[in-house]
Amino acid sequence: MKALKLHEHFEQFIDEVCELINEEWPRSKEIRKSMLASSSDNLPCSIIVVDTNEEGKNVVLGHARILDSGSQNFVLETVVVKRGIRGKGIGSFLMSSSEQFLVEYFKRQNVPSEKRVLSLKTHTAEEFYAKLNFSLCEPVLSAGKVTSNLGGEALQKLSQLFGTPNTNANKLNPGEVWMNKHF
Ligand SMILES: CC(C)(COP(=O)(O)OP(=O)(O)OC[C@H]1O[C@@H](n2cnc3c(N)ncnc32)[C@H](O)[C@@H]1OP(=O)(O)O)[C@@H](O)C(=O)NCCC(=O)NCCS
Repeated sequence: MKALKLHEHFEQFIDEVCELINEEWPRSKEIRKSMLASSSDNLPCSIIVVDTNEEGKNVVLGHARILDSGSQNFVLETVVVKRGIRGKGIGSFLMSSSEQFLVEYFKRQNVPSEKRVLSLKTHTAEEFYAKLNFSLCEPVLSAGKVTSNLGGEALQKLSQLFGTPNTNANKLNPGEVWMNKHF
C-alpha cells in the first residue's frame, strides 16, 4: 500500500478516484474531475492510497484533499476509503500520509508555526479523527466551495478585494463539528 499525489498520476487514476468519491457524495463526474484537476504541490492537493490487487493491477483505496481556504487556513476535505475495506487501517494511513505532505508543504513555504494547523468539518467520523489527535475547535471561515479550487495567492487577492465571503459553506448542519490538529 502506498500514498501518491493525484496530480503525479492523474490520467492513470482520475476515473477511479471520481468513482470512489462519487459513491460517497454523488456529483457529476465532470464537476468532480475538474475539481480534482486543480491538485498540485501548492494546494489544493489530493492524496490517494493505492495498492496492487490479486491481478497485479494498481487500485485506488482512498482519497483526501488538503486546501488553503484563504489566509493560510488549511482544511482537509473529501476523506474517503473504499466501501467494503474500511476499518482495516487504510484511513489512518491516508491521514498520516496527508499530514506528512502538509508538514513538508509548511517547511517548503515557511508557514509560521501559529499557522501550522489542519482543520476539518465532520459529522460522521469525529471518533476516527479524535483517535488521530484532532480536537474540537471553532469553525474555520471558508472562502466557499466556488473559490476552493483557486490557489492560495488568488484567494488572498480576492480576500483583499472583497474581504472573506461569508457563504453557506461556513454554516454548520446539526451534528457537524470542526476539529483541528497543530503541527
Ligand atoms: C472515515 C473513514 C475515512 C475511516 O477510514 P477507515 O479505513 O475505516 O479507518 P481506520 O481503519 O484507519 O480506522 C481507525 C480507527 O478509527 C475508527 N473509525 C473509523 N471510522 C470511524 C467512524 N466513521 N466513526 C468512528 N470511528 C471510526 C476505527 O474503528 C479504528 O479504530 P481502532 O483504531 O480502535 O481500531 C471511512 O470510514 C470512510 O471513508 N467513511 C465514509 C466517508 C466519511 O465519512 N469520511 C469522513 C468525512 S469528514
